[in-house]
Amino acid sequence: MTKSAPLSPFPTLNDVVVKGKRVLVRVDLNVPMENGRITDSTRIERILSNIREISSKGGKVIILSHLGRPKGPERETSLKPVAVALEHELGRIVSFASDCVGEVAKSAVNALRDGDILLLENTRFHAGETKNDPDFVNALAELGDIYVNDAFSTSHRAHASTEGIAHRLPAYAGRTMQLELEMLTSMLAHPNRPMAAIVGGAKVSTKLELLGNLMRRVDYLFIGGGMANTFLAASGKAVGKSLCELQLADVARKILADADATNCQLVLPVDAIVAPRLEPNASVRAVSIDAVGDNDMILDIGPRTIAKVVGILAEARTVVWNGPVGAFEVPPFDTGTVAIAKVAALLTKVHALETIGGGGDTIAALNKANAYHDFTYVSTAGGAFLEWLEGKLLPGVEALRGAKAA
Ligand code: 3PG
Ligand code: MG
Repeated sequence: MTKSAPLSPFPTLNDVVVKGKRVLVRVDLNVPMENGRITDSTRIERILSNIREISSKGGKVIILSHLGRPKGPERETSLKPVAVALEHELGRIVSFASDCVGEVAKSAVNALRDGDILLLENTRFHAGETKNDPDFVNALAELGDIYVNDAFSTSHRAHASTEGIAHRLPAYAGRTMQLELEMLTSMLAHPNRPMAAIVGGAKVSTKLELLGNLMRRVDYLFIGGGMANTFLAASGKAVGKSLCELQLADVARKILADADATNCQLVLPVDAIVAPRLEPNASVRAVSIDAVGDNDMILDIGPRTIAKVVGILAEARTVVWNGPVGAFEVPPFDTGTVAIAKVAALLTKVHALETIGGGGDTIAALNKANAYHDFTYVSTAGGAFLEWLEGKLLPGVEALRGAKAA
């Protein structure tokens, strides 16, 4: 981290004595799983130090999380395997209760001694969670003396365990939440300029508000990935068989016109890597953006575009990155994303640039480029990171802001 963060405007663990207290800690253990196996542990790794701190200070750590979007109790989204992973990462016993409320949860909580750690089953096994139902909020609140929210990545949801409960118990931001808020605020509210944004991903439709808000804040906005095709088509370029949301052409033209009216320089690809279809090691060509054929699919940015983005990175002092600029899951269409990520990481390492990444596929893309650890900050949030960048208030964060310390 290259920047000192300002003091947090939220009550934090600095403001409470946890010793002997039952501490309900909301984390985001919504980790990607395949056949019961966790495929990426980043979210688990991030919450460890907060748990260790509460435990070592003598708090009884009672962990709450959701996993997936179940309609009721089901095996596939049980947190039980996550308890095992957590135990492994912490090197400590983590007990598990097969329900997050009621007698099962109560007796598991009653068995805790100071410093012990308990994970409760998926909060979304109860409909009251997503409905923010007051009775369910009460059932959760009964289990704790204080509430710690350490899950920025779920704070865009006004659910019982992310929002409702913060009004029922003395509420605090956990260390991971605190760092996330401090980094996002210091890097994005008062950025070193010039500031650039790199926005990729498949669809413009999911990121319209994001683009509008970023345009007012940044000096350069580079749009890559599938969503760039919509802008290219809207400005009269042929995009062949590429992914493209033609119905958004008017919106795209308005965004381009708005960019002209601001000081933000909106940059689109000037060349592309094309192939007849999206498949590994397809036969590819690099073409100028004016030369995309009827049967071509644009699947990555081309070398001249890479050079252009590198030029922006070299000039910028702050970069915010959301979304890959090509079909990075399928080689060689990861080339553009990996090249840019590597340059951004290098510039960060030599303190020429501050880099902040987040959202959906971004962590996977940065990991692929071996750039994840060199970025100044990488958010593990998807939707919450986007909503923050869009300038929206996040209910989970706002509930803490209004929270009274004990
Ligand atoms: C996420 O993975 O983005 C968070 O855990 C929120 O999950 P949700 O989109 O299912 O609410
Ligand atoms: Mg999501």
